[in-house]
Amino acid sequence: MTTYTTRLLAPDTWDDFAALVEANNGVWGGCWCMGFHPEGLGGTSEEHRAAKEKHTREGTVHQVLVYDGDQAVGWCQFGSPAELPHIKNPKAYEKDLEELPRWRIGCIFTGSKHRERGVARAAVTAVLEEIRQRGGGVVEAYPEQVVDRKPQRGAYLHTGPESLYEDLGFARDRQIAKWRWVVRLEVGAFGPPGQSDPRRLR
Ligand SMILES: CC(C)(COP(=O)(O)OP(=O)(O)OC[C@H]1O[C@@H](n2cnc3c(N)ncnc32)[C@H](O)[C@@H]1OP(=O)(O)O)[C@@H](O)C(=O)NCCC(=O)NCCS
Repeated sequence: MTTYTTRLLAPDTWDDFAALVEANNGVWGGCWCMGFHPEGLGGTSEEHRAAKEKHTREGTVHQVLVYDGDQAVGWCQFGSPAELPHIKNPKAYEKDLEELPRWRIGCIFTGSKHRERGVARAAVTAVLEEIRQRGGGVVEAYPEQVVDRKPQRGAYLHTGPESLYEDLGFARDRQIAKWRWVVRLEVGAFGPPGQSDPRRLR
């Protein structure tokens, strides 16, 4: 079992992040993990890269990078709904929305050569610890159902596998697409890492 380390995306880790994105053809042909940010997509790959670098320089992105040795192999992005306004299925999401969460998990990605070896698990676990250190609160993710569905390649699990979030204590809140759910977890501000009050909300 590989032991991973994690670091936040920041000016001093930008080159590691960029190398991972470049090794994966820009991610979906050049989104550079901009889809959840306020600017969204719609530009060229170069424009997305420049926008992501600006967020990194200005400290307007929260993103955990997972390292195998000194190589970044995956990431998980998090932030407030204002920082990450563009989720998939926004109309269905808003229809039964009662209260926005304090935190949301945005883009999750593992390099294509590193999948199914615990990278995403390490990334989301580290994100929950980062959130705990920032005072905790309700966290939402929008993963893809994998149980009672024919097997899917990781590449098609755009918002991550629901089973991973369930393992980490998230519970279903509501369905927003045929195979996509809003899942929620309340992270406490205290307690040792990994035991951050995984109280199910519903
Ligand atoms: C989905 C994705 C993040 C999973 O990353 P990963 O590092 O391979 O995941 P992990 O090895 O940490 O797996 C953790 C858990 O997720 C689940 N899981 C992972 N891949 C799965 C798959 N293909 N099918 C079903 N469940 C899966 C399992 O429950 C697994 O737990 P287990 O190992 O105990 O069985 C990865 O496949 C990926 O990056 N896909 C593309 C996502 C994408 O497009 N992101 C950009 C969005 S714009």
